[in-house]
Amino acid sequence: MKISYHGHSVVKIETNGKTILIDPFLTGNGLTDLDPEKESPDVILLTHGHNDHVGDTMEIAKRCGALIVAPNELAVYLGWQGLNTHGMNIGGAKEFDFGTVKFTKAFHSSSYTTENNEIIYTGMPTGILFYAEGKTIYHAGDTSLFGDMELIGRMNDIDVAFLPIGDNFTMGPSDAAEAVKLLNPKLTVPIHFNTFPPIQQDPMDFRNLVESHDVKVMEAGDTIQL
Ligand code: NI
Ligand code: MN
Repeated sequence: MKISYHGHSVVKIETNGKTILIDPFLTGNGLTDLDPEKESPDVILLTHGHNDHVGDTMEIAKRCGALIVAPNELAVYLGWQGLNTHGMNIGGAKEFDFGTVKFTKAFHSSSYTTENNEIIYTGMPTGILFYAEGKTIYHAGDTSLFGDMELIGRMNDIDVAFLPIGDNFTMGPSDAAEAVKLLNPKLTVPIHFNTFPPIQQDPMDFRNLVESHDVKVMEAGDTIQL
């Protein structure tokens, strides 16, 4: 399994002969190395409806026909745009041919802002557990720290956890450091920072706060081979 990071919350997983893009916010993401016109994933996984997560989903999926797996109301909304979607909800898991997806809770909000500045509420925000090749990846989406991360950590042997550290909209570095203790992942990668002025952080500060676990600060385009 090859995992790569592409700025903000964008993670690409290549496994089982398929390419999976999580939260493909590329246009307007000054930190990404990906060109939305060149990405043709088989699957797009979405954690919630915010535009810095849905990102280029509609354009990419319209062009390449990717399956979009998303929290239910967001999946319904994207289905109305003519896209191929599969809706799920918190606590539910499903085995696909590319791996197993399970949605976890996240404490945040979830809405999509249209070009006409209408806010469409898109159900509950989520985190995603992804299982393939005997490995477990946790993408926390946007969330605050919450105590049930301990339960997620106890029930899953997490190989890589992608955790937001930007503060303001999500956990900041000290709360994310506490999340690492609860989740007990083999490796943690900080995400959702430095994309916009309110989420400026030095990821090394986060790394220094996490003494007990491995942290890998990834630049856009960096990869992990599992
Ligand atoms: Ni958000
Ligand atoms: Mn966000």
